[in-house]
Amino acid sequence: MKTRFLIAALALLAGIPALTIGVATSGVAADKPAVTANATGTVGGIKVPSTNHPITLDVPAEATHREITDDQKRVRNYADQPPLIPHAIRDYQIDLNINKCLTCHDRRNTAGSQAPMLSVTHFQDRDGQTLGTVAARRYFCTQCHVPQTDAQPIVPNSFQDFDSVLGHAQGGQK
Ligand code: HEC
Ligand code: HEC
Repeated sequence: MKTRFLIAALALLAGIPALTIGVATSGVAADKPAVTANATGTVGGIKVPSTNHPITLDVPAEATHREITDDQKRVRNYADQPPLIPHAIRDYQIDLNINKCLTCHDRRNTAGSQAPMLSVTHFQDRDGQTLGTVAARRYFCTQCHVPQTDAQPIVPNSFQDFDSVLGHAQGGQK
């Protein structure tokens, strides 16, 4: 029993210097000045200013892509696609207290805003009952409707709409 106690005490003592060294070195690391400029590396395949201290350098962020806000309707890729938003929606609040979108798109407000009214599907609850106001499941507009930017797709897309698929099929049969 006694020896066990002694061994435990010794192990504890041996641990203390290691602990203090750890604290000391981490203190030094924090005081280290920022790494030299132009040092770059890759972390997980992404280019970063420095491999050691990726966030200690002030590097201007890449410009964000321009939003498309030309007010032009976009063709839908299939009949029940949620139409894309052709105008800016930055800072439009949608929460328990207010839904900015409805201030223009709700039935009562379209005369003033000249915005297209929500279609009737937005007033139907899950049992198909048409309600007097927008159904809860259609309240968070940006769940389905999104604006666009001029960014090029990162992943190539070979989507063809119904008409072009039909066109190909008919062409093949001839
Ligand atoms: C200030 C009024 C206003 C507000 C607020 C507004 N919109 Fe619009 N919205 C319009 C108008 C007007 C149009 C018609 C096209 C245009 O002028 O941009 C439109 C067009 C649209 C369209 C295209 C419809 C189609 O048939 O192509 C969608 C989708 C849309 N808005 C969704 C939204 C969503 C979602 C929000 C909230 C995040 C929102 N709008 C907030 C006025 C508004
Ligand atoms: C669950 C997905 C979903 C949500 C949430 C949603 N929409 Fe839609 N929206 C659609 C789809 C799908 C269509 C096209 C088919 C249709 O009319 O139902 C559409 C159509 C529209 C249209 C075009 C109507 C027309 O007749 O041209 C407008 C405007 C619109 N939505 C605005 C809104 C606004 C504003 C909100 C938030 C209050 C909203 N939507 C919430 C899916 C959604």
